[in-house]
Amino acid sequence: MDARAFLDRGAVRLDDVGLEYRFAKSVGVGGVDAAAVAAALPRARAAAGAFRALLETGEAPCMDEAVLWPRVTPPEQVAPVQAWAARARGADVVLSIGIGGSYLGNRVLRDALLGTTYNARPRAARGDWPELHFAGFHLDPAESRDLVDLVRAKAAAAGRPLRVVLLAISKSGTTTETLASTLGLLRAMQEVPGVKAELAALTAPGSVLSELVRAKQGEELPFPEGIGGRWSVLTPVGLVTAAVSGVDVGALLDGARAAQAAIRAADGDPGRDPALLYALLHHLHAGQGRAGAVFMPYSERLRSVSEWYVQLLAESLGKEKDRQGQVVHAGRTPIVAVGTTDMHAQTQLHQEGPHDKTVTTLDVADWGPATVADRVPDEAVAGKLAGKTFAQLNTLAREANEDALRGSGRPSDAWVLDRLDARGVGALLYTLMASVAYEGELMDVCAYDQPGVEAYKKIMKARL
Ligand code: PA5
Repeated sequence: MDARAFLDRGAVRLDDVGLEYRFAKSVGVGGVDAAAVAAALPRARAAAGAFRALLETGEAPCMDEAVLWPRVTPPEQVAPVQAWAARARGADVVLSIGIGGSYLGNRVLRDALLGTTYNARPRAARGDWPELHFAGFHLDPAESRDLVDLVRAKAAAAGRPLRVVLLAISKSGTTTETLASTLGLLRAMQEVPGVKAELAALTAPGSVLSELVRAKQGEELPFPEGIGGRWSVLTPVGLVTAAVSGVDVGALLDGARAAQAAIRAADGDPGRDPALLYALLHHLHAGQGRAGAVFMPYSERLRSVSEWYVQLLAESLGKEKDRQGQVVHAGRTPIVAVGTTDMHAQTQLHQEGPHDKTVTTLDVADWGPATVADRVPDEAVAGKLAGKTFAQLNTLAREANEDALRGSGRPSDAWVLDRLDARGVGALLYTLMASVAYEGELMDVCAYDQPGVEAYKKIMKARL
């Protein structure tokens, strides 16, 4: 395989799903050149071989538990989620209670595919689906009170019983934030006049949470086997809230399957597998001291993709030991940034600060026809902005940022979705997960465990 041939193209495109990885400003900028990529190709091929084996066997050598996320959720796991969503559809409010992998992916699917103002819209404009709020992703007393006050105000305004479904999501069923919030919010909702509260849970059968739901005669959905929290967005864990808010779950999974098929067909060729090339380039940059990973969507709807990617990257690759037991203190440090917002906050640092990071942007090529809300009017005072759409300005800003970074020897790369739709998002999330799996192979660390989060839990438990 000739590295130069594909590097000259500057982009890898998954045509079928409308997803492109643009890497031209990541090679030959800041230290990683074509020769370095060519020298690393055998390692990339080995990483791809390991991923293929994982896909086929469901076994990761470093794990006792199966690792099944690469297979994409089968229909028999989707059906119960959709059936539950159909029953919950008549609710006024769904409160999804969970943290980490039992929250971040759910948030991505709501924000990216329904928009950040979803809950503020009238019910008809939500396609007759309930409001979808998130709780339990913190222990913030004020947030919890505010949420209960919000529901209280809705119940008072409704003039009829308000149906509120609390959906607790937790693999272990014992996570402090989730359990405390579920118990606290359930009691609070039961005390709000005019609220009819119901409890449901998606958890491991037999867990504390599952026992609680049974005791309250609520509905229970099984947490899928072989799925770790941060790999769960395209499984019933992430799909359950997507289904109860009208997201096209079938299209999401179809996009993931298409990405998986493209990755399999690429057979270890980074020129055709964007996940592999992305992993390889970032692995090489990290090896040269650029281990900071700014992930910068140019859209508020996609901010949560960056927050989700933080967990995926940090928990998967941030490890004390490699798979041979050697102390390595490995990892790349993910940093959330949003364009253009953080061009007025972080870009100064990215442009002139330490040469210790890469900047990855995420953009959407086609936002559909501009409206009066997102076009600069043709007025003299607008100068060169006159008549420009916000989408044009947004992309100009992104590309200007990337070019400025290149000018000061700072590598950047870009993910570009043709459109922001369920199929594209499914493909993007699958591709990013595959890239982290590849990086785990390249770094020789176990990407599927998280022993480092146990330390604080032990201290906290002893002090409870
Ligand atoms: O990725 C992980 O495994 C973690 O971040 C978990 O998702 C998080 O700790 C929540 O765990 P649980 O689903 O058991 O409540």
